[in-house]
Amino acid sequence: MADKKRLFTGLQPSGQLHLGNYFGALKPFVESYGGFESFLMIADYHSLTSLRDPQALKQNIVEVVRAYLAAGVDPSQAVIFKQSDIAEHTELAWVFDCLVTVPFLMQAHAYKDKVAKGIEANAGLFTYPMLMAADILLYESDVVPVGEDQRQHVEYAREAAAKFNNAYGETFKEPAEKILAGVGVVPGTDGQKMSKSYGNTIPLFGGKDEISKAVMSIVTDSSGERPENVYAIHKLFKSEAELAPLYEQNKGNYKALKVALAADIEALVAPMRARYESVTEADVKKVLAEGAQKARAIASAKMAVVRQKIGVTL
Ligand code: ADP
Ligand code: TRP
Repeated sequence: MADKKRLFTGLQPSGQLHLGNYFGALKPFVESYGGFESFLMIADYHSLTSLRDPQALKQNIVEVVRAYLAAGVDPSQAVIFKQSDIAEHTELAWVFDCLVTVPFLMQAHAYKDKVAKGIEANAGLFTYPMLMAADILLYESDVVPVGEDQRQHVEYAREAAAKFNNAYGETFKEPAEKILAGVGVVPGTDGQKMSKSYGNTIPLFGGKDEISKAVMSIVTDSSGERPENVYAIHKLFKSEAELAPLYEQNKGNYKALKVALAADIEALVAPMRARYESVTEADVKKVLAEGAQKARAIASAKMAVVRQKIGVTL
């Protein structure tokens, strides 16, 4: 374990998971976490920047943990915890807030994009990158797998580390992002990026009927040889060579192709759904309690060093 590099990733518990989340986040994590000493953090305090519904937040936290367990993460091989359980995250974020300037934070694309879309510019949204820097740096993380949209946030974490080290002496290790190539590429039922904000998702743990209904709603236009939006999703499940005869035989028969796609999705989802349903809320609480214990040991030792360095420990 000691010679393994440390991998850290986080995700906001922000709603019902869809196939895009599976291919862009869950699957890559499941495939790579065993090669590292891995940390998977539920960023519940980050989601407070946009979610003010306590019942929904609670439910989303449980769902996300169940989803990762169902997708195949073994909780004895990764530290799964929630951000709000470790007070050191918000504590260190404050220290970083005092090291960076307002103009520096104003350059964040994610912040600017949200404000441009009319999303409330609360102070939490503005200082979001410093909380994320604290998440990453407390654990001396080597590798941070994120989507392209989060690349700049990892750069902010490196900047926060450098600014702290510069002011108080070498303390934090600068992490590297690992950009997940598949992120953002899963198309939705309308051909745009699948996203819960576009209402074009195929749910990951929906029932068979729900999946089928979403697949039937895929927008098709008859200008080409094959229904491109159906094919683009189908390629995630079968190779192009496997799909070629199916699409050849069913030229113009979009209904049959959709039925075939729904069956292929169901074949992947059914065993995961069964595991998902077998994980209880009590299981989730246990996993998070054990994860918090491990995470806390690391975070509190690091924060003790920080407190010494900044001069608040007498
Ligand atoms: P949404 O766009 O539905 O709000 P999130 O931003 O909550 O999704 O996504 C969480 C993670 O899921 C992202 O960081 C990314 O890794 C992955 N993801 C989301 N949508 C897609 C997609 N269409 N294709 C591939 N990956 C995606
Ligand atoms: N901001 C990330 C997102 O929205 C989630 C996140 C919070 C995160 N803290 C993190 C990701 C630390 C990686 C590392 O996707």
